[in-house]
Amino acid sequence: MPHESAPRRRTGAYLAIAAIVASVGGAFAWTAGWLTPDRLTPARMTDAIEATSTTPYPGFRRAHAKGLCVVGHFEGTPDGAALSRARVFADARTPLIGRMSIGGGSPYGLDAQARVRSMALVLRGGDGSEWRMAMNSFPFFGAASAEAFFAQTQASAADPATGKPDPARMAAFAAAHPAAQRFAAWAKSAPWSDSFANTPYNGIHAYRFTGDRGEQLVRWSMRPQAPFVEMTAAQREAAEGDYLQDELRARLAEGPVRWDMVVTVAGPGDDPSDPSTPWPDDRTQVIAGTVVLTGAQDQATGACRDLNFDPTIVPGGVALSDDPILAARAAVYAQSFDRREREVARGADVDGTPPQESTR
Ligand code: HEM
Repeated sequence: MPHESAPRRRTGAYLAIAAIVASVGGAFAWTAGWLTPDRLTPARMTDAIEATSTTPYPGFRRAHAKGLCVVGHFEGTPDGAALSRARVFADARTPLIGRMSIGGGSPYGLDAQARVRSMALVLRGGDGSEWRMAMNSFPFFGAASAEAFFAQTQASAADPATGKPDPARMAAFAAAHPAAQRFAAWAKSAPWSDSFANTPYNGIHAYRFTGDRGEQLVRWSMRPQAPFVEMTAAQREAAEGDYLQDELRARLAEGPVRWDMVVTVAGPGDDPSDPSTPWPDDRTQVIAGTVVLTGAQDQATGACRDLNFDPTIVPGGVALSDDPILAARAAVYAQSFDRREREVARGADVDGTPPQESTR
């Protein structure tokens, strides 16, 4: 068999290198969504969230932008330890860093008028484990899939003329999505609490706990020990912009603020993969521990600023369910975290005074 000439061999090698470069480039392009413009990627979801505001807020979280850092500890109970071998249930005290926030993309939103309030936590277990949670005051999610949430976010895009979403687009979205209708009914009817401290925060997704009784599907909520006090529409309208933050700081100055972690065990037929559907009220509930907050810090300088409360970071004894929104959240939170950290590194002012037009 005749030998190939040197120039021909070289051409073959160049073609092979070009093929490798093209396939690696193609893989990157596919991952980024450049080859499939309709595919939902973390970047597209984050872009859509950003588009719900006409004002960019560099250096801030793309959602739940306004909040304050909190510190404290978690106290486990024997009932919790029986449900899951996560170290935080066995230990009397696990230190925590958290963040209390309101929904929305503006770091200057009006606290008392935010329908959604939130608690995020990182529990650092004595065995080096970490458990991150980001929970909301709504009892179920308003979208049954990441795609539905994306479509809802697009429908909520700020109209450049008004700076607000187009009501007709929002109504059309809701008409086609029962989960959004259920959510709207909750938002309209549920009483408003007057404090971060007397608001329940719900984990929403199903997770798997492994303990003495084997593996069980669960959901959890943080139930406030502080008694519920309603805030009327007139009180909300009259409240100062930082009302919830100021009120929480004042409470903490008087002493710790507590929530019980109530774990609900799934019953037959409860769907673990759809966070938009509540499970029946009669399911077994266990108090697995208590969240104790002891102090607060500004979010610009506090321990929560450079944290990503990714709800897929769980310790041994806790595993994710098949809920696809969990994976979507992990990817989008990483995207938001990456964007805001780069902006901070480039000098974004995360401690500035609010621009006039964005206080509402
Ligand atoms: C596909 C659905 C969702 C998307 C795309 C999404 C998106 C985001 C983004 C971009 C952030 C900012 C993250 C950062 O910069 O660190 C965020 C924060 C947050 N989200 Fe979601 N979210 C989703 C669902 C949920 C659900 C179901 C809950 C409640 C169970 C929730 C609760 C929170 C909370 C509490 C924060 C603030 C965390 C903090 O204080 O750092 N989100 N979300």
